[in-house]
Amino acid sequence: MSNILITGANKGIGLQLTEQYAKRGNTVIACCRDVDAASALTDLAGSHDIQVKQVMIGDGDSVAKLASDLAATPIDMLINNAGTGGPKAQSVMDMDYAGWADTFNINTMAPLRMLQALKTNLNLPASAKVATITSQMGALSLDMAMAYAYCASKAALNKVMKLAAIELKKENIQVCVIHPGWVQTDMGGPKADLTAAESAAGIIGVIEQLNADNTGGFWNWNGKPHAW
Ligand SMILES: NC(=O)c1ccc[n+]([C@@H]2O[C@H](COP(=O)([O-])OP(=O)(O)OC[C@H]3O[C@@H](n4cnc5c(N)ncnc54)[C@H](OP(=O)(O)O)[C@@H]3O)[C@@H](O)[C@H]2O)c1
Repeated sequence: MSNILITGANKGIGLQLTEQYAKRGNTVIACCRDVDAASALTDLAGSHDIQVKQVMIGDGDSVAKLASDLAATPIDMLINNAGTGGPKAQSVMDMDYAGWADTFNINTMAPLRMLQALKTNLNLPASAKVATITSQMGALSLDMAMAYAYCASKAALNKVMKLAAIELKKENIQVCVIHPGWVQTDMGGPKADLTAAESAAGIIGVIEQLNADNTGGFWNWNGKPHAW
């Protein structure tokens, strides 16, 4: 069984990943920014092997504190799931630049910040995996002219993780980005195609298939490769 760290574990896709991995007998280190408000997660932790941890992924000191708390804990899998949809104003002629910078911090920089902070932990097992939840909206091949800040943050995230995959391959750390589908969460809204449970089950299948030969990929939740 594995030690799996998941960000944004309090709701949506992250909560479902936490539940499904825990029910398979893994130890989940479930991270969120407000533990007091994470009642669904803390309830789940009462009956499963789940350690709930508070971390502000946008803040280097907070991430460093988490890493310090976890010193010497092997981590087999880091799942960067937390993400923000970005500011209200993010169109071609109306951009909230401070909101865009925050979106980059959470969606693009925080996944690398987590990877860096937990690299020692990821090096402890013989091999480890880093999966980051991206979006089809970060694909340069998709002409969907909306949500500029969000799309740009996920496109940059994809590049960061592709580069990390190249560099970390020699250390037996495999890296991928996964589009989770259009999912019924607070972000995706109630009309979305998939339940969070369906998306999480697909994501778990994709991560199972991640290996040294296909590291650096961009995948759909259903296991099909996603065009960059
Ligand atoms: N739902 C979709 O259709 C869809 C499609 C493509 C990609 N995605 C991606 O899937 C991932 C999970 O999203 P979801 O659909 O499960 O949405 P969600 O239910 O809204 O959950 C988002 C998670 O990210 C956390 N988060 C948001 N802003 C944050 C911030 N500034 N700092 C730290 N944590 C923050 C949230 O924490 P709080 O509860 O504390 O806000 C929550 O845990 C995201 O990366 C998203 O971009 C979703």
